[in-house]
Amino acid sequence: MSADLKFDYKALAKEFGTPFYIYDFDMIKERFLRLKTAFKARKSQIFYAMKANSNLSLLSLLKELDSGFDCVSIGEVKRALQVGTKPYKIIFSGVGKSELELKQALEYDILYINLESEAEMYVLENVAKKLDIKARISIRVNPNVDAKTHPYISTGLNVNKFGVAFDLARKMYLYAHKSEFLEPVGIHFHIGSQLLDISPIHEASTLVAKLVRELKALNIELKFFDIGGGLGVSYEGESEPDLYAYAQGVLGSLSGLDLTIALEPGRFLVARAGELVSSVLYEKITPSKRFIITDAAMNDLLRPSLYNAYHEIVLPYNEGEKSPCDVVGGICESGDFFAKDRLLEQSKNGDILVIKNAGAYGFSMSSNYNTRPKVCELAKFKDKNDKTQIKLIRKRQSFETLVQDELECLKEG
Ligand SMILES: Cc1ncc(COP(=O)(O)O)c(C=O)c1O
Repeated sequence: MSADLKFDYKALAKEFGTPFYIYDFDMIKERFLRLKTAFKARKSQIFYAMKANSNLSLLSLLKELDSGFDCVSIGEVKRALQVGTKPYKIIFSGVGKSELELKQALEYDILYINLESEAEMYVLENVAKKLDIKARISIRVNPNVDAKTHPYISTGLNVNKFGVAFDLARKMYLYAHKSEFLEPVGIHFHIGSQLLDISPIHEASTLVAKLVRELKALNIELKFFDIGGGLGVSYEGESEPDLYAYAQGVLGSLSGLDLTIALEPGRFLVARAGELVSSVLYEKITPSKRFIITDAAMNDLLRPSLYNAYHEIVLPYNEGEKSPCDVVGGICESGDFFAKDRLLEQSKNGDILVIKNAGAYGFSMSSNYNTRPKVCELAKFKDKNDKTQIKLIRKRQSFETLVQDELECLKEG
């Protein structure tokens, strides 16, 4: 595998500086349409989980393709609205929504709120009562199914903080059904991220569908069967899940039920479409290691530090023999690395180094640690004449905007 040289990294680096993220919008579109097609046999709606990458231009692209959005903060709800999304294409999930966030979500009249605890249900009911409206809800069930993925991104076991167990969910539905201010419209599960084997999703789907049937027998008719996200992508040449098998497994568990399937893919749509492009600052040899130090660091892409995640790395213009090295950033943490003992060519100051498959949980997890400004983001797409176009979709953050909120307080004295 080699970096995509259909466009010129050097020219982009010259124009925009490094580091920068670049996303292939055509690939995102292709993956969205492929997933949508796999579910076309049934009423379904994709709600892109924007936590994976919430750049407004990227959201706008997906909105134009008829995507809805799964949001995990009121800020994300506002992002969806900002790009013109209709409120009925927005759902609000997350284990710790504040009362204010719940109030605002109700005022925006979004499709439904995914509840994650009994306590949250009572808070929402109270908020809805004050507004004198009925809140449309879905309950996130924790099916206690092992997603067999990294522990930090596994969410469907009883030891995880997410969702509620079946017994409690049943009790909550009965309560909500009787409440003047709650209207149960959906059921939700999301057992983890980066699932390459999707059988745990089917297992969960079967268990959750059983609860839907029980509720139906009690005259609680749900409309949405929200299967979360979690589809894995190839980071190291693994094969990605077959989308038809994924859809068939879910559809199979729903026989006899008339439900709209809600999907919340994040990583699947954007991970492979993004690259973090950096420049080599220095090479450094210690008695036991060779290091390539880049101008990107863990504050720009946290996944290797956080999960020991693998990202393919290339020096697209370098040739010659490869030898093991650690690729690291310049932050004062030994955990600041992109790869360990990776085989790469010799490099020198100014060489381009590309970290691939960084479109999901890359920029969206980035921070200003070490007072490093957020990097700029670019989109790449083919125009009507099949010519590759590059568009700046987020400016590089300036030092002035980085310190602005502190400076105002400092000046106020
Ligand atoms: C509730 C929920 N939905 C969807 C997603 C998106 O997951 P993925 O990026 O694996 O598709 C997540 C990720 O954590 C989530 O928590």
